[in-house]
Amino acid sequence: MSEVVEKAILTHLSSGADAKIDDTFVWAAANKLDHNAVVGSVKSLLVDAYVSAEELFTSFYTLSKEAQDVVENGSQEMRVLAALVESGEGLSMPDLQAKVGKNVCKIGMGNCMKNKWAKKDGDKLVALKTLEEVADETKDKLKALQDADGNPEGIMSDKEVTMLKKRKLVSLVKRNSFAVTRGEHYAPNRVKKAADLTKEMLDSGAWKTTPFKPYNFLTVGEKVGGGYLHPLLKVRAEFRKILMQMGFQEMPTNKWVESSFWNFDSLFQPQSHPARDAHDTFFIKEPAATVSVPEDYYERVKEMHEKGGSGSIGYRYDFKREEAFKNLLRTHTTAVSSQMLYKLANQPGGFKPARYFSIDRVFRNETMDATHLCEFHQVEGLVADYNLSLGDLIGTIETFFKKIGITQLRFKPAFNPYTEPSMEIFGYHPDLKKWTEIGNSGMFRPEMLAPMGLPENVRVIAWGLSLERPTMIKYRIKNIRDLFGHKVEMARTRTAPICRFEEA
Ligand code: PHE
Repeated sequence: MSEVVEKAILTHLSSGADAKIDDTFVWAAANKLDHNAVVGSVKSLLVDAYVSAEELFTSFYTLSKEAQDVVENGSQEMRVLAALVESGEGLSMPDLQAKVGKNVCKIGMGNCMKNKWAKKDGDKLVALKTLEEVADETKDKLKALQDADGNPEGIMSDKEVTMLKKRKLVSLVKRNSFAVTRGEHYAPNRVKKAADLTKEMLDSGAWKTTPFKPYNFLTVGEKVGGGYLHPLLKVRAEFRKILMQMGFQEMPTNKWVESSFWNFDSLFQPQSHPARDAHDTFFIKEPAATVSVPEDYYERVKEMHEKGGSGSIGYRYDFKREEAFKNLLRTHTTAVSSQMLYKLANQPGGFKPARYFSIDRVFRNETMDATHLCEFHQVEGLVADYNLSLGDLIGTIETFFKKIGITQLRFKPAFNPYTEPSMEIFGYHPDLKKWTEIGNSGMFRPEMLAPMGLPENVRVIAWGLSLERPTMIKYRIKNIRDLFGHKVEMARTRTAPICRFEEA
């Protein structure tokens, strides 16, 4: 289609150097071509300077259907007057309606009264003028406008045009078109420039003479099908940045399988604790047991569970090696925190204060619903230093949450086997406009820290939260399955905006 139109334009211009299309709109109609297609071809020919073009803005009035009727049969007021004159003594409303029709009657009657061509006499309308005494101005104006191709200039005043517009007899049409003449590189036939260099051109030598399209450096390039960060990774990157700014060092959490010893026992979680039940924990079948644990430390942990120490009376049960050696998918990243603290206590040169964090995956054998899966990610932080207090924990937590835009916090006493005191963290979410549980925290118990060999006045404050929760809030994701797992829509990952937390 576009080639046919292009050819028609070039042929039209071939008659001589000053050949011209005065107005593409008129020309398209005369040649039975679609004006949009003509404009498209003109623009395309312009690029290669086959034509020059000047944009035209034309506005004109068109007559409505009713106005066409007026031009052919006279205005409504004229038709009403004619009916009244014909009747002699005037007409009642129903009779007039029957004669001229309902619409003509309504409009014509009003205009007759306004023009003082007719008046009411009882229930009748009677003529005040003969047909010879009046002129049908409405009809004459419309006819003149039509004859002038909709251009009212020199025919009627602006006021009169406005009147016709008000009566919905005419409406303004605006049109963009082009005046077209030959361009600098005009030729009656367009030679399409090649976009690509082909093997055939090279073989035949045609490349030497083939005109090529110039490079268009302004065009939008093809989408690069690279990798995209998943929303969880975007939030993780942001959290990691914040924690690093706060002086925290990342813990190596790159293993999912842990022993019960590190996941539970080292944290002073009794071996009979219900969380260790297979209902809550995924135990590993192969290899079912870990190879080794630091033996001397193991003995101190066992002792603490069985008999206590550091002012504690312990749990007073038989600590089982077999239970401690069971492999599992870690249920929390605190399993890594305890290994880091053990290392910290036993490093060459002894304990030095430290701040650690981690963001990684944990597994729980939970009932799945809209907000719970059996694997998720934990953000965990800890500070180990001399004589820390609960105030330090609250302060650290406040600083962290402030950096992700949450300033209003509440702390609720809670229980963890490995912390005392323990606090659940509630935050007033400015986006959700409600208080929600956003984390768990506490000070690690002496029963956990003493067997590691940490100096007695060293306290460890720690907190943890899920990565999914803030991510779902940030990206307005209602169902966790839309965030994580095999039902995630890849397109959503591609289009998810980068994550930025505003410090409140
Ligand atoms: N491990 C806890 C959990 O799984 C979080 C936590 C970490 C609590 C550190 C207190 C201290 O929820």
